[in-house]
Amino acid sequence: MAKLKFGMVGGGPGSNIGSAHKRAICLDSTADLVAGCFSRNPEKNAEQGKIYGIDQERCYKNYEEMAKAEAQRSDGIDFAVIVTPNNTHYAVAKAFLEAGIHVSCDKPLVTSVKEAEDLQRIAKEKNLLFMVTYTYTGYVAMKYMRSLIRNGEIGEIRTVMAEYPQGWLYKDSGGKQGEWRCDPKQSGRVNCLGDLGTHVENAVATVTGLKVKRVLAKMDVVVPGRLLDDNDQILVEYEGGATGVNWTSQFAIGCNNSLRLRIYGSKGTLLWFQEEPESVTLIREDGNPCIIKKGTASVTGEAAKYGRVPSGHPEGWLESMGNLYDSFGRCILARKDGTLTTDMIDYPTIEEGVAGLRYVEACLESNDKGNVWVTL
Ligand SMILES: NC(=O)c1ccc[n+]([C@@H]2O[C@H](COP(=O)([O-])OP(=O)(O)OC[C@H]3O[C@@H](n4cnc5c(N)ncnc54)[C@H](O)[C@@H]3O)[C@@H](O)[C@H]2O)c1
Repeated sequence: MAKLKFGMVGGGPGSNIGSAHKRAICLDSTADLVAGCFSRNPEKNAEQGKIYGIDQERCYKNYEEMAKAEAQRSDGIDFAVIVTPNNTHYAVAKAFLEAGIHVSCDKPLVTSVKEAEDLQRIAKEKNLLFMVTYTYTGYVAMKYMRSLIRNGEIGEIRTVMAEYPQGWLYKDSGGKQGEWRCDPKQSGRVNCLGDLGTHVENAVATVTGLKVKRVLAKMDVVVPGRLLDDNDQILVEYEGGATGVNWTSQFAIGCNNSLRLRIYGSKGTLLWFQEEPESVTLIREDGNPCIIKKGTASVTGEAAKYGRVPSGHPEGWLESMGNLYDSFGRCILARKDGTLTTDMIDYPTIEEGVAGLRYVEACLESNDKGNVWVTL
């Protein structure tokens, strides 16, 4: 694959997800990092630029300057990666879209449906690609479960139990990352539901194809001193009649990134746990569990093509993010040479980012009105 060039906003020294994006993009030599605004602090920005070997002139003091300058260069970036706290995503993404640059933004896309729809409109008007990095959807196992469900292997889906508990915010700490997530000025109107709940909503939608029809939300602020939700229990009804429960929490001591899906259909069941991401349990009508692992012959070609190493050699979360960038990079190249077709798009798009915000706002409305059903 021909190499692309990308720039990064956020991902400064001591940050969490920026370096993961860079590593994931490098896995398949999808693109080189050539520009950035890694921090608002000039010293930290320069420090990160040096670590990444970025030319000083392409280590920008703010994202506005970066978007304008990169758009004007003949060797400017093909796409921008946004890995800043949630409240900044809208303005940063808008600046790059308006400069004519494709965008990859981490989740949650923004902090309101209004902002999300605005970005969707601009991306469409400018004919630009926009990925939202719901990382978990890149796993071979996720793509395999999706193909099983599309092929009718578990029949009609009846109910989905989905959860993503973490325990790192069981008391009011969590360092820099915890501080902004729990601060409404930086996180928006939700903490846990934006951070983890959007992953759950997207994972279920990606694997099952189900669309949320209505929700009944119980969103709690449990740890003393906190202003935003840290435990959310959401009853879901999907279009077509399937139901589900989505639970997310940040005080579940002992849980790390415990995203778990249990999907029950009319002919079978699928079970998957993020912390053991290579295995899918398929249970057919005879009740016998069958554990299918990445790399084995049972995994369909559509999913298997995303594996990089043979069975028994584990792949994980970074590879999953790499798979999103693999598809995104291929689509950008195809857009450049005019060969892009919609069936090539196998990454979470801005439409999924908008869906995440619609889910969040419906849950907020349900909770605010006293835990009533709200239709999306
Ligand atoms: N996909 C996933 O699984 C996943 C995992 C973790 C975080 N995230 C998302 O990634 C984003 C970043 O989260 P994090 O945990 O890495 O946060 P972080 O606090 O560790 O890092 C944020 C970085 O952005 C920089 N920054 C802030 N404002 C900036 C600006 N205006 N210009 C340039 N740099 C700026 C900060 O200096 C810092 O380096 C969030 O939206 C979060 O929800 C996604």
